[in-house]
Amino acid sequence: MGMKLKIGLLASGNGSNLQAIIDRSEQGLLDARVVCVVTNRADAFALERARRHGIPAIHLSHRDFSSREEYDASLVKLLREHGVQLVVLAGFMRIITRVLLEAFPAAVMNIHPALLPSFPGLDAQRQALEHGAKLAGCTVHFVDEGTDTGPIIIQSAVPILPDDTVESLSHRILLREHQSYSRAIQLYALGRLAIQGRRVIITGEHALGESSLSNPAVSQ
Ligand code: GRF
Repeated sequence: MGMKLKIGLLASGNGSNLQAIIDRSEQGLLDARVVCVVTNRADAFALERARRHGIPAIHLSHRDFSSREEYDASLVKLLREHGVQLVVLAGFMRIITRVLLEAFPAAVMNIHPALLPSFPGLDAQRQALEHGAKLAGCTVHFVDEGTDTGPIIIQSAVPILPDDTVESLSHRILLREHQSYSRAIQLYALGRLAIQGRRVIITGEHALGESSLSNPAVSQ
């Protein structure tokens, strides 16, 4: 238990990714555990989810700080107090700065509900639908100073179906997010991720090979 990787998770809203990580951790499927949850919004349901599992839940309002850097310095202090080793952004609706990144080098992850570099930023699922894309998905990546630009760890694709709405597509993607984030965290916990430039090398991983996902299906 004490040897498990200590995760500090930052969220702003519902926290379904947080829940998925907590559940897998409690089931013994992760060599990691969430040691604190910080939100910038007092009404984030993620806080309630953390409390239900006995995890310290902290509201740190960005309104109490005059700059992003000062906010991040306060975040760093909190995360360090809890012995955090990996910072997991899960629906955290704030731009983070070098202050956080330099305190946790190569140890800040994010999840984005699109196959990056397509559709970065806000409303990614709506962007994909409106573009007429046939595949959507999610991306887990290390965070750098850009918005949704850091080295990619895992991508998982889902089809966009003819009757999809933003809600139906978001739900389909979210289920993949829950699987993908836990997988990325486990690979990190096992020391199997190495960043080489823009690439993340995953040791001992079986690649997908020649199999693929097409929408609509294509014959070989
Ligand atoms: C997810 O779609 C995530 O990719 C995006 O914000 C959403 C957070 O959902 N960054 P939840 O709060 O984890 O339920």
